[in-house]
Amino acid sequence: MRKRTLAVWLICFIVCLAACTSDKEAETSGSLSALEELAEPIAEESTELSEDAGATGGADTMAGKASMDGGETSDGDGFEGKNSTDGGIGTDGKDAADGKTAEGSEGSEDAVKHEEIDYLVLVNSKNKLPDGWEEKLDLVSVENSVGDIVQVERTAYNAYLELKADLMESEGIDLDLDSAYRSVAYQQDILERFTEKYGAAYAAKTVAKPGYSEHHTGLALDLYFRLDGVEVYENEDLVLYPEVWKKIHSRLTKYGFILRYPGRTDGTVDYTYEPWHIRYVGIENAEVISATPGMTLEDYLGKK
Ligand code: DAL
Ligand code: ZN
Repeated sequence: MRKRTLAVWLICFIVCLAACTSDKEAETSGSLSALEELAEPIAEESTELSEDAGATGGADTMAGKASMDGGETSDGDGFEGKNSTDGGIGTDGKDAADGKTAEGSEGSEDAVKHEEIDYLVLVNSKNKLPDGWEEKLDLVSVENSVGDIVQVERTAYNAYLELKADLMESEGIDLDLDSAYRSVAYQQDILERFTEKYGAAYAAKTVAKPGYSEHHTGLALDLYFRLDGVEVYENEDLVLYPEVWKKIHSRLTKYGFILRYPGRTDGTVDYTYEPWHIRYVGIENAEVISATPGMTLEDYLGKK
């Protein structure tokens, strides 16, 4: 009797053990397949996130650099860095233009296509930046020799690179960019700083009102240069080199630039002579404008 009871208990124990093990397997495999199901979307999502993170990281870095260097430039030039429309801008501030001339990586095939912009746009004390302009802008970001990030409209930037290469090769002048695109908010900042430092009268002669600066277009470039490896950067130093500016100005037309503020005193030009401030208008327009000494963009547009 005792032996039989023992045998029955033993059989029960074995049956229970078997049932229990198969439940656990089922549970485990159920959990695994649920995890596998979850894992796929997570994996897909993480690829998207890492792509997004790249773009966002670049943009954030840009904004960070921009705000760091915002107040450092010699004539108050600079930018806010919020308007980059180029997803390909790298974290080092360098970018591809069309893979041919711009610094940085190869041109991105998925770069956003931008509307054609008007290279003859007139922005001066009487003509505000057109509405919606900045949305159309395709800006390239570059780091200059003093570590500032400068943004320039893509076509103008490529033309600038050709001008720079020409001047280096033919004259040994090492050109660089102090400032190009500026947001309206940043122009306001410059005006306030200039007013505080030099007084309202001087500020009005040298700094455009926010919304009325040609720098908002991304087509106006402020230059500086290095001579024999020495940086000539501050405006008060730049004006000491008229012979260098003569060489630079003599090559502007070939690359589609004009000297925007030639120092005319007949009241038709808003600002005093700025040898460093050039404006991209395209080669054909530059040829016509430069054919008449002293002709300004205002004159040209009035005659067109
Ligand atoms: N310095 C030029 C006039 C500007 O502020 O746009
Ligand atoms: Zn300027």
